[in-house]
Parts: sequence; structure tokens; C-alpha cells
Amino acid sequence: MIYSRIAGTGRYLPEKVLTNFDLEKIVDTNDEWIRTRTGVERRHQCAPDETTSDMCVEAAKKAIESAGVSVKDIDMVIIGTTSPDLIFPNIATLVQHRLGIPACPALATEAACTGFVYALTTADKFVKTGEAKCVLVVGAECITKLVDWTDRNTCVLFGDGAGAVIVEPSEEPGILGTHLGADGKHKELLYYPVGASKDLYKAGTEEVGITMVGKDVFKVAVSKLGDVAIEALEAAGVDRGELDWLVPHQANLRIIQATAKRLGLPMDKVIVTVQDHGNTSAASVPLALDTAVRDGRIERGHLVLMEAFGGGFTWGSILMRF
Ligand code: COA
Repeated sequence: MIYSRIAGTGRYLPEKVLTNFDLEKIVDTNDEWIRTRTGVERRHQCAPDETTSDMCVEAAKKAIESAGVSVKDIDMVIIGTTSPDLIFPNIATLVQHRLGIPACPALATEAACTGFVYALTTADKFVKTGEAKCVLVVGAECITKLVDWTDRNTCVLFGDGAGAVIVEPSEEPGILGTHLGADGKHKELLYYPVGASKDLYKAGTEEVGITMVGKDVFKVAVSKLGDVAIEALEAAGVDRGELDWLVPHQANLRIIQATAKRLGLPMDKVIVTVQDHGNTSAASVPLALDTAVRDGRIERGHLVLMEAFGGGFTWGSILMRF
């Protein structure tokens, strides 16, 4: 039996940091409201000429280095993002070429904030079937370019960044189980109203921005993130008490706390980066993972549950022995 495991991690965050106090100068908000409702204190923002593939390349270099592999070893690239550089070619082809990775399958998974979990799940299947031996998986988002900066309901929530992992075959279990889900009936609660085949001419105008019914998103997120975590543990026959770490999607500290409570996990077993990154959508889970790997909290052999939830809605979880 071939298993798949994460061999290395990396991240990149844009240089510019926007604090809640900076946002007070842009919209009618205040640090106290943002912190108490969301847990966010600051977020990173791409420079005007910085793109999602720029961030992917930097995060990938770190993951490649930490995995001790060469770009020549990589035989598949999968990128989860909602904010690709171009409508086509897909962003994974841009990253493959820019990194000097030999020609190989390169694809993007668009599942909003669940994009990385969808991408890593796909990589897991290719490695387990023997069709890929070294997969670069990235979750990246330049989501501040999709935000309406006059809308205080949404602009305070989001940030930019990229997190990457290298996935390789292993004789020992790494990824133990993956669970994905989606239900398009919730589309109206969270969406971006412009796309390649709809109203593209409006992109970049003040009419257009992330559209969200925050309170309803909150309720479904808490319910689905709890469900998909329990589903992962039950399918693997793992008791909640055995978990070393929960690496949840970083949308809102109150959502994270509610999920931990439902799992009966103390918050010191939960990786929280939302205060520093905001909601970076598909980048959120790999950014949190790399943060905790590099600061020494997540160690080899630890049992880690990653999970995410996003527009659609989409959701997913990955249980792994790191
Ligand atoms: N600063 C100050 N006031 C703000 C504000 C801001 N940035 N944004 C909204 N408000 C106001 C609203 O206008 C509203 O005012 P009103 O009551 O006078 O109409 C009020 O705050 C709403 O407050 P409240 O009901 O307490 O908000 P909330 O507790 O539901 O928190 C969210 C709002 C958006 C933080 C919360 O609903 C949430 O996080 N939802 C999930 C969002 C999410 O995670 N999306 C991504 C999923 S992947």
C-alpha cells in the first residue's frame, strides 16, 4: 500500500501589513469591533503589481527547500485559489514554468476558501495510485483585489498570502483520510458577482465586490466545520483525545472556538493565525500549517486535522500523521 505524506511546507506573505487602525482611516470601523467580532488584528496586502502566482512561487520555494527535493523531482502541480492571475492559462502552469519544473500535469482547484483542501485531497489520490511521485500543492489568494474597499462588512475580514506543501509517497501512513463536500444551494450567501462569462466588464468597478450575508455564513460554517471534522475522525476510527492539533480555516476566531468546543478540544491544541493573517481564503490552512511547523508546535508523528469551509458552500477535512 502506498501512502502519501507531506514532506515539506512553506509560506509567503506580502510585505505590506494593514492593521485594524489602518482600516479605521478607510471605512467607518474600529479596532475593537473587528477584534471582538472576528479576532483579526492585522492582515497582509499584495502590492498593486503583485500577483497570486508571485506568492505561489515564493511559498513553493520554501516548501521545496524544506522537503529537500529539487524542482526536477516535481511531477504534478495543483493550486487552490479563487484569485488566479489570469482566466487562462491556469495558474498552476504559470507556477510550473516560473519554477523550472519539467512539463507535468498542472491544474487549479477553485473551491473558494476550501481550495487548498480540495487541492491536497487531489494530490493524495494521485500519489496513492502511483500516478504522481512528488506533487507541489499550493493554496494562495490575492483576495484583497476582489474586496470592495468601501464595504466595511467585508473589507475588514480578508488578507493575502500563500502556503505550499510537497506531497510524496510514503511507506508509513501520512494522510489518513480526506472528506470533501459542497452544496451550491448556499450560493447567495457568499459570492463574487463577476466571472469570465458574466459581467466581466464590471470587474474592478465600485459596483463589484465580495457579497456576503455574514450572520448566515457564520451559522453554516460552524455547523459544517464541526460535521466534517467529526466525519474525518469517525472514518479513521480516531478518538478526539488522540488529536495533537486542529488546523482550521482561519475565517473568524469565534468560528474556530465554536468548532473546537464541538470537538471537545482545548484551544491550546488549535493553531490560530487569524489575528495576523485575516481570512486568506485558500491560503489560510497551509499558512497556519507552515507557521506551526516552523515554530515547532507541529512535529513529525503528530496527528493533525486540517479543515476548511468556503463559498458555494464547499467544505473539507484532511486527517494526517505529519
Ligand atoms: N465595523 C463596524 N461595524 C460594522 C462593521 C465593521 N467593520 N461591519 C459591520 N458592522 C455593523 C453592521 O453594519 C451592523 O450594524 P447594524 O446592527 O447597525 O445594522 C452590525 O455591525 C452587525 O453586527 P453583528 O450583528 O454583531 O455582526 P456579527 O456578530 O454577525 O459579525 C461578521 C459580523 C461578518 C464578523 C460575522 O457575521 C462573520 O464572521 N460571519 C462569517 C463571515 C465569514 O467567515 N466569511 C467567510 C467564510 S469562508
